[in-house]
Amino acid sequence: MYLSIQNILAMVFLIFLSQVKSNHFSPGELWLDDKGMHINAHGGGFLIQGDTYYWFGEHKIEGKEGNKAQVGVSVYSSKDLYNWKNEGIALEVHDDPNSLLVKGCIIERPKVIYNKNTKKYVMWFHHEIKDRGYDAAMTGLATSDHVTGPYTYIKSVNPHAGLWPSNYPDSLKSKPVDLEKYKRPSQEWKDAVVDGVFLRRDFEKGQMARDMTLYVDDDGKAYHFHSSENNQTLHVAELTEDYLDFSGNYTRVLHGEQNEAPAIFKKDGKYYMFSSGLTGWKPNPGKSAVADHPMGPWTSLGNMCVGTEEEMNTTFWSQSTYVLPVIGKKDAFIFMADRWNPDNPIDGRYIWLPVEFDNSTPVLRWYDQWDLSFFDNK
Ligand code: DGJ
Repeated sequence: MYLSIQNILAMVFLIFLSQVKSNHFSPGELWLDDKGMHINAHGGGFLIQGDTYYWFGEHKIEGKEGNKAQVGVSVYSSKDLYNWKNEGIALEVHDDPNSLLVKGCIIERPKVIYNKNTKKYVMWFHHEIKDRGYDAAMTGLATSDHVTGPYTYIKSVNPHAGLWPSNYPDSLKSKPVDLEKYKRPSQEWKDAVVDGVFLRRDFEKGQMARDMTLYVDDDGKAYHFHSSENNQTLHVAELTEDYLDFSGNYTRVLHGEQNEAPAIFKKDGKYYMFSSGLTGWKPNPGKSAVADHPMGPWTSLGNMCVGTEEEMNTTFWSQSTYVLPVIGKKDAFIFMADRWNPDNPIDGRYIWLPVEFDNSTPVLRWYDQWDLSFFDNK
Protein backbone atom coordinates (compact mmCIF):
# COMPACT_ATOMS: atom_id res chain seq x y z
CA MET A 1 0.00 0.00 0.00
CA TYR A 2 1.38 3.46 -0.94
CA LEU A 3 1.22 6.04 1.87
CA SER A 4 1.68 9.68 0.97
CA ILE A 5 3.80 11.93 3.18
CA GLN A 6 0.54 13.67 4.25
CA ASN A 7 -0.98 10.35 5.36
CA ILE A 8 2.15 9.45 7.30
CA LEU A 9 2.22 12.88 9.00
CA ALA A 10 -1.50 12.58 9.87
CA MET A 11 -0.88 9.12 11.41
CA VAL A 12 2.11 10.37 13.40
CA PHE A 13 0.04 13.33 14.61
CA LEU A 14 -2.83 11.02 15.71
CA ILE A 15 -0.40 8.71 17.52
CA PHE A 16 1.09 11.79 19.23
CA LEU A 17 -2.39 13.04 20.22
CA SER A 18 -3.37 9.62 21.59
CA GLN A 19 -0.34 9.65 23.90
CA VAL A 20 -1.25 13.05 25.38
CA LYS A 21 -3.24 12.41 28.54
CA SER A 22 -6.42 14.42 28.92
CA ASN A 23 -7.45 15.91 32.26
CA HIS A 24 -10.75 17.55 31.40
CA PHE A 25 -13.99 17.14 29.44
CA SER A 26 -14.64 19.18 26.29
CA PRO A 27 -18.31 18.52 25.43
CA GLY A 28 -19.02 18.29 21.71
CA GLU A 29 -15.35 18.07 20.63
CA LEU A 30 -13.72 15.03 19.02
CA TRP A 31 -12.77 12.60 21.81
CA LEU A 32 -9.80 10.39 20.97
CA ASP A 33 -9.25 6.96 22.47
CA ASP A 34 -5.87 5.32 23.23
CA LYS A 35 -5.48 4.55 19.52
CA GLY A 36 -6.07 8.14 18.42
CA MET A 37 -9.57 7.44 17.04
CA HIS A 38 -12.76 9.31 17.96
CA ILE A 39 -14.59 7.17 20.54
CA ASN A 40 -17.21 5.08 18.76
CA ALA A 41 -19.77 4.23 21.47
CA HIS A 42 -22.99 6.13 20.86
CA GLY A 43 -26.19 5.88 22.89
CA GLY A 44 -23.83 4.77 25.63
CA GLY A 45 -24.30 2.84 28.83
CA PHE A 46 -21.77 2.69 31.66
CA LEU A 47 -20.76 0.10 34.21
CA ILE A 48 -18.46 0.55 37.18
CA GLN A 49 -16.39 -2.47 38.27
CA GLY A 50 -13.97 -1.73 41.12
CA ASP A 51 -12.00 1.37 40.15
CA THR A 52 -12.75 1.03 36.43
CA TYR A 53 -15.47 2.53 34.28
CA TYR A 54 -16.69 0.65 31.19
CA TRP A 55 -18.41 2.51 28.35
CA PHE A 56 -20.60 0.43 26.01
CA GLY A 57 -22.18 1.98 22.95
CA GLU A 58 -23.38 1.71 19.39
CA HIS A 59 -20.52 1.26 16.93
CA LYS A 60 -21.35 3.49 13.95
CA ILE A 61 -19.80 3.78 10.52
CA GLU A 62 -19.55 6.62 7.98
CA GLY A 63 -22.44 7.66 5.75
CA LYS A 64 -26.21 7.47 6.02
CA GLU A 65 -26.23 3.68 6.53
CA GLY A 66 -23.90 4.16 9.48
CA ASN A 67 -26.72 4.14 12.03
CA LYS A 68 -27.39 0.46 11.30
CA ALA A 69 -25.38 -2.16 13.14
CA GLN A 70 -22.59 -3.15 10.73
CA VAL A 71 -20.16 -4.12 13.49
CA GLY A 72 -21.93 -4.28 16.87
CA VAL A 73 -21.52 -2.85 20.34
CA SER A 74 -18.20 -1.25 21.30
CA VAL A 75 -16.63 -1.22 24.74
CA TYR A 76 -14.02 1.12 26.23
CA SER A 77 -12.47 1.28 29.71
CA SER A 78 -11.12 4.10 31.83
CA LYS A 79 -9.96 4.78 35.37
CA ASP A 80 -10.30 8.57 35.24
CA LEU A 81 -13.22 9.16 32.81
CA TYR A 82 -11.06 11.44 30.61
CA ASN A 83 -8.83 8.82 28.93
CA TRP A 84 -10.44 5.76 27.34
CA LYS A 85 -8.92 2.51 26.15
CA ASN A 86 -10.57 0.80 23.21
CA GLU A 87 -11.43 -2.74 24.42
CA GLY A 88 -12.90 -3.80 21.06
CA ILE A 89 -16.31 -5.12 20.13
CA ALA A 90 -18.30 -6.55 23.04
CA LEU A 91 -21.23 -7.84 20.97
CA GLU A 92 -20.62 -8.58 17.30
CA VAL A 93 -23.25 -8.71 14.57
CA HIS A 94 -22.63 -11.43 12.00
CA ASP A 95 -23.43 -12.70 8.52
CA ASP A 96 -26.02 -15.39 9.31
CA PRO A 97 -29.21 -14.17 7.54
CA ASN A 98 -31.29 -16.42 9.81
CA SER A 99 -30.14 -14.66 12.96
CA LEU A 100 -31.88 -11.55 14.24
CA LEU A 101 -28.38 -10.24 14.97
CA VAL A 102 -27.41 -10.12 11.30
CA LYS A 103 -25.41 -7.13 9.95
CA GLY A 104 -27.76 -4.29 9.02
CA CYS A 105 -30.14 -4.77 11.93
CA ILE A 106 -30.46 -1.84 14.37
CA ILE A 107 -28.86 -2.00 17.81
CA GLU A 108 -29.33 1.08 19.97
CA ARG A 109 -28.59 2.25 23.52
CA PRO A 110 -26.88 -0.94 24.84
CA LYS A 111 -26.70 -1.07 28.62
CA VAL A 112 -24.74 -3.61 30.70
CA ILE A 113 -25.31 -4.59 34.33
CA TYR A 114 -23.51 -7.13 36.49
CA ASN A 115 -25.31 -9.82 38.44
CA LYS A 116 -23.40 -10.55 41.65
CA ASN A 117 -25.14 -13.89 42.22
CA THR A 118 -24.71 -15.42 38.79
CA LYS A 119 -21.46 -13.51 38.07
CA LYS A 120 -22.79 -12.76 34.58
CA TYR A 121 -22.56 -9.50 32.69
CA VAL A 122 -25.99 -8.83 31.21
CA MET A 123 -26.53 -6.56 28.21
CA TRP A 124 -29.95 -5.33 27.11
CA PHE A 125 -30.41 -3.14 24.03
CA HIS A 126 -33.04 -1.75 21.69
CA HIS A 127 -33.16 -4.12 18.73
CA GLU A 128 -34.82 -3.72 15.34
CA ILE A 129 -34.97 -6.38 12.63
CA LYS A 130 -32.98 -5.81 9.43
CA ASP A 131 -34.96 -4.03 6.69
CA ARG A 132 -37.99 -3.48 8.90
CA GLY A 133 -37.20 0.06 10.02
CA TYR A 134 -38.31 0.60 13.61
CA ASP A 135 -41.40 -1.68 13.38
CA ALA A 136 -40.25 -4.59 15.55
CA ALA A 137 -39.59 -2.38 18.63
CA MET A 138 -37.90 -5.19 20.55
CA THR A 139 -35.43 -5.38 23.38
CA GLY A 140 -32.46 -7.71 22.95
CA LEU A 141 -30.44 -9.66 25.49
CA ALA A 142 -26.83 -10.85 25.46
CA THR A 143 -24.59 -12.13 28.26
CA SER A 144 -20.94 -12.72 29.01
CA ASP A 145 -18.68 -14.02 31.77
CA HIS A 146 -16.27 -11.14 31.09
CA VAL A 147 -17.07 -7.46 31.23
CA THR A 148 -15.55 -6.65 27.84
CA GLY A 149 -17.09 -9.72 26.23
CA PRO A 150 -17.48 -11.42 23.90
CA TYR A 151 -21.21 -11.30 24.66
CA THR A 152 -23.44 -14.13 23.45
CA TYR A 153 -26.74 -13.09 21.93
CA ILE A 154 -29.66 -14.81 23.68
CA LYS A 155 -32.95 -13.38 22.35
CA SER A 156 -35.03 -10.34 21.47
CA VAL A 157 -38.57 -9.83 22.73
CA ASN A 158 -41.62 -7.65 22.86
CA PRO A 159 -42.08 -7.95 26.61
CA HIS A 160 -45.15 -8.70 28.68
CA ALA A 161 -47.31 -10.59 26.19
CA GLY A 162 -50.64 -11.27 27.90
CA LEU A 163 -49.74 -9.25 31.00
CA TRP A 164 -51.25 -5.98 32.20
CA PRO A 165 -49.19 -3.29 33.94
CA SER A 166 -49.80 -3.32 37.70
CA ASN A 167 -51.15 0.24 37.56
CA TYR A 168 -53.60 -0.34 34.69
CA PRO A 169 -57.19 -0.07 35.92
CA ASP A 170 -59.50 -3.04 35.37
CA SER A 171 -62.11 -0.66 33.96
CA LEU A 172 -59.89 0.06 30.90
CA LYS A 173 -58.88 -3.53 30.11
CA SER A 174 -61.91 -4.30 27.96
CA LYS A 175 -62.14 -0.91 26.23
CA PRO A 176 -62.08 -1.35 22.43
CA VAL A 177 -58.97 -0.80 20.35
CA ASP A 178 -60.63 1.75 18.10
CA LEU A 179 -57.64 3.61 16.66
CA GLU A 180 -59.34 4.29 13.31
CA LYS A 181 -61.88 6.47 15.15
CA TYR A 182 -59.40 9.23 15.98
CA LYS A 183 -57.83 11.90 13.79
CA ARG A 184 -54.23 12.44 14.77
CA PRO A 185 -53.40 14.76 16.43
CA SER A 186 -56.59 15.53 18.32
CA GLN A 187 -57.60 15.62 21.97
CA GLU A 188 -59.60 12.40 21.46
CA TRP A 189 -56.51 10.62 20.08
CA LYS A 190 -54.40 11.92 22.97
CA ASP A 191 -57.03 10.75 25.49
CA ALA A 192 -57.14 7.30 23.86
CA VAL A 193 -53.33 7.08 24.05
CA VAL A 194 -53.33 8.05 27.73
CA ASP A 195 -56.05 5.43 28.27
CA GLY A 196 -53.74 2.81 26.79
CA VAL A 197 -55.18 2.11 23.33
CA PHE A 198 -51.72 0.97 22.10
CA LEU A 199 -51.17 -1.07 25.27
CA ARG A 200 -54.42 -2.95 24.59
CA ARG A 201 -53.53 -3.33 20.89
CA ASP A 202 -50.24 -5.05 21.84
CA PHE A 203 -51.56 -7.02 24.82
CA GLU A 204 -51.49 -10.43 23.09
CA LYS A 205 -48.26 -10.16 21.13
CA GLY A 206 -46.17 -8.24 23.69
CA GLN A 207 -45.38 -4.57 24.16
CA MET A 208 -43.14 -2.26 22.14
CA ALA A 209 -39.74 -1.56 23.68
CA ARG A 210 -37.64 1.09 21.89
CA ASP A 211 -35.35 3.63 23.66
CA MET A 212 -34.26 1.98 26.87
CA THR A 213 -32.08 2.07 29.93
CA LEU A 214 -31.38 -0.18 32.91
CA TYR A 215 -31.22 0.83 36.53
CA VAL A 216 -29.95 -1.38 39.38
CA ASP A 217 -31.13 -0.25 42.80
CA ASP A 218 -29.17 -0.53 46.05
CA ASP A 219 -31.04 -3.75 46.92
CA GLY A 220 -29.82 -5.39 43.68
CA LYS A 221 -33.20 -5.23 41.91
CA ALA A 222 -32.88 -4.24 38.27
CA TYR A 223 -35.38 -2.24 36.26
CA HIS A 224 -35.75 -1.97 32.48
CA PHE A 225 -37.15 1.41 31.36
CA HIS A 226 -38.34 1.59 27.77
CA SER A 227 -40.37 3.78 25.43
CA SER A 228 -43.48 1.78 24.62
CA GLU A 229 -46.96 2.28 23.12
CA ASN A 230 -45.69 3.96 19.89
CA ASN A 231 -43.21 5.95 22.02
CA GLN A 232 -46.09 7.69 23.76
CA THR A 233 -45.68 6.12 27.23
CA LEU A 234 -42.75 4.75 29.20
CA HIS A 235 -42.87 1.29 30.73
CA VAL A 236 -40.82 0.45 33.80
CA ALA A 237 -40.30 -3.28 34.15
CA GLU A 238 -38.75 -5.28 36.96
CA LEU A 239 -36.21 -7.85 35.75
CA THR A 240 -35.94 -11.33 37.25
CA GLU A 241 -33.27 -11.93 39.94
CA ASP A 242 -30.77 -13.13 37.33
CA TYR A 243 -31.56 -10.06 35.13
CA LEU A 244 -32.13 -12.39 32.15
CA ASP A 245 -35.87 -11.89 31.83
CA PHE A 246 -38.83 -9.72 32.74
CA SER A 247 -40.42 -10.67 36.05
CA GLY A 248 -43.86 -9.73 34.70
CA ASN A 249 -44.26 -6.84 37.10
CA TYR A 250 -44.37 -3.55 35.20
CA THR A 251 -45.94 -0.10 35.24
CA ARG A 252 -46.87 2.58 32.72
CA VAL A 253 -45.39 5.94 33.65
CA LEU A 254 -45.73 9.50 32.33
CA HIS A 255 -48.65 8.30 30.19
CA GLY A 256 -48.89 9.96 26.78
CA GLU A 257 -45.92 12.26 27.45
CA GLN A 258 -43.71 10.95 24.61
CA ASN A 259 -40.52 10.26 26.53
CA GLU A 260 -37.44 8.87 24.81
CA ALA A 261 -33.84 8.44 25.97
CA PRO A 262 -34.49 7.76 29.68
CA ALA A 263 -31.55 8.00 32.10
CA ILE A 264 -32.00 7.29 35.82
CA PHE A 265 -30.08 8.22 38.96
CA LYS A 266 -30.74 8.25 42.69
CA LYS A 267 -29.93 10.93 45.24
CA ASP A 268 -31.04 11.16 48.89
CA GLY A 269 -33.51 8.30 48.44
CA LYS A 270 -35.25 9.91 45.44
CA TYR A 271 -35.08 8.61 41.87
CA TYR A 272 -34.53 11.12 39.07
CA MET A 273 -35.06 10.68 35.36
CA PHE A 274 -33.70 12.75 32.50
CA SER A 275 -35.30 12.08 29.13
CA SER A 276 -36.13 13.71 25.82
CA GLY A 277 -39.11 14.30 23.58
CA LEU A 278 -39.71 12.59 20.29
CA THR A 279 -38.05 14.19 17.24
CA GLY A 280 -36.00 11.43 15.60
CA TRP A 281 -32.29 12.35 15.45
CA LYS A 282 -33.03 16.05 15.98
CA PRO A 283 -32.66 17.45 19.49
CA ASN A 284 -35.56 18.75 21.53
CA PRO A 285 -36.13 20.28 25.01
CA GLY A 286 -34.92 18.07 27.87
CA LYS A 287 -37.29 16.64 30.44
CA SER A 288 -36.84 15.56 34.05
CA ALA A 289 -38.96 13.75 36.61
CA VAL A 290 -38.76 12.49 40.19
CA ALA A 291 -40.18 9.45 42.00
CA ASP A 292 -40.01 7.64 45.32
CA HIS A 293 -39.71 4.28 43.58
CA PRO A 294 -38.33 3.31 40.14
CA MET A 295 -41.76 1.99 39.13
CA GLY A 296 -43.36 5.33 39.91
CA PRO A 297 -45.50 7.25 40.07
CA TRP A 298 -43.17 9.78 38.42
CA THR A 299 -43.77 13.52 38.71
CA SER A 300 -42.57 15.79 35.97
CA LEU A 301 -40.01 18.45 36.96
CA GLY A 302 -39.85 20.12 33.53
CA ASN A 303 -36.83 21.01 31.44
CA MET A 304 -33.60 20.44 33.40
CA CYS A 305 -31.52 22.69 31.13
CA VAL A 306 -30.65 26.19 32.25
CA GLY A 307 -29.21 28.46 29.55
CA THR A 308 -30.12 30.28 26.38
CA GLU A 309 -33.42 29.60 24.66
CA GLU A 310 -31.59 27.56 22.04
CA GLU A 311 -29.74 25.52 24.66
CA MET A 312 -32.99 24.82 26.50
CA ASN A 313 -34.86 23.94 23.30
CA THR A 314 -32.19 21.50 22.18
CA THR A 315 -30.73 20.12 25.44
CA PHE A 316 -27.43 21.73 24.37
CA TRP A 317 -27.91 20.06 20.94
CA SER A 318 -28.02 16.59 22.42
CA GLN A 319 -30.18 13.72 23.67
CA SER A 320 -29.69 11.99 27.01
CA THR A 321 -28.30 8.47 27.27
CA TYR A 322 -27.02 7.92 30.83
CA VAL A 323 -26.34 9.55 34.19
CA LEU A 324 -23.18 8.24 35.83
CA PRO A 325 -22.30 8.53 39.52
CA VAL A 326 -18.60 9.37 39.91
CA ILE A 327 -16.54 6.85 41.93
CA GLY A 328 -15.52 8.19 45.34
CA LYS A 329 -17.34 11.53 45.13
CA LYS A 330 -20.56 12.20 46.99
CA ASP A 331 -23.54 13.45 44.99
CA ALA A 332 -21.42 13.72 41.87
CA PHE A 333 -23.33 12.75 38.72
CA ILE A 334 -22.45 13.22 35.07
CA PHE A 335 -25.17 13.77 32.48
CA MET A 336 -24.18 11.94 29.32
CA ALA A 337 -25.79 12.60 25.97
CA ASP A 338 -25.36 12.20 22.22
CA ARG A 339 -25.09 14.95 19.65
CA TRP A 340 -26.24 12.77 16.75
CA ASN A 341 -24.99 13.22 13.21
CA PRO A 342 -27.40 11.17 11.03
CA ASP A 343 -25.56 12.11 7.78
CA ASN A 344 -22.31 10.72 9.15
CA PRO A 345 -23.16 8.82 12.36
CA ILE A 346 -19.55 7.90 13.21
CA ASP A 347 -18.95 11.61 13.81
CA GLY A 348 -21.64 11.85 16.53
CA ARG A 349 -20.28 13.77 19.51
CA TYR A 350 -20.62 13.28 23.26
CA ILE A 351 -22.03 15.90 25.59
CA TRP A 352 -21.06 15.29 29.20
CA LEU A 353 -22.08 17.89 31.78
CA PRO A 354 -22.09 17.93 35.58
CA VAL A 355 -25.49 17.56 37.23
CA GLU A 356 -26.08 20.50 39.56
CA PHE A 357 -28.83 20.78 42.13
CA ASP A 358 -30.84 23.98 42.59
CA ASN A 359 -32.84 23.49 45.79
CA SER A 360 -32.54 19.74 45.32
CA THR A 361 -33.88 19.91 41.73
CA PRO A 362 -31.34 18.60 39.21
CA VAL A 363 -30.29 21.10 36.54
CA LEU A 364 -27.74 21.22 33.72
CA ARG A 365 -25.67 24.17 32.56
CA TRP A 366 -23.26 24.34 29.66
CA TYR A 367 -19.49 24.34 30.24
CA ASP A 368 -17.06 24.48 27.29
CA GLN A 369 -14.55 22.66 29.43
CA TRP A 370 -14.70 21.19 32.93
CA ASP A 371 -13.18 18.50 35.13
CA LEU A 372 -14.08 16.38 38.13
CA SER A 373 -12.86 19.01 40.62
CA PHE A 374 -16.20 20.67 39.75
CA PHE A 375 -17.74 18.34 42.34
CA ASP A 376 -15.32 19.19 45.15
CA ASN A 377 -16.68 21.35 47.97
CA LYS A 378 -20.22 21.19 46.55
C1 DGJ B 1 -34.34 8.91 18.80
C2 DGJ B 1 -33.80 7.81 19.67
O1 DGJ B 1 -33.54 8.29 20.93
C3 DGJ B 1 -32.54 7.24 19.04
O2 DGJ B 1 -31.99 6.26 19.88
C4 DGJ B 1 -32.93 6.69 17.70
O3 DGJ B 1 -33.85 5.65 17.88
C5 DGJ B 1 -33.56 7.78 16.84
N1 DGJ B 1 -34.69 8.36 17.53
C6 DGJ B 1 -34.01 7.26 15.50
O4 DGJ B 1 -34.67 8.26 14.79
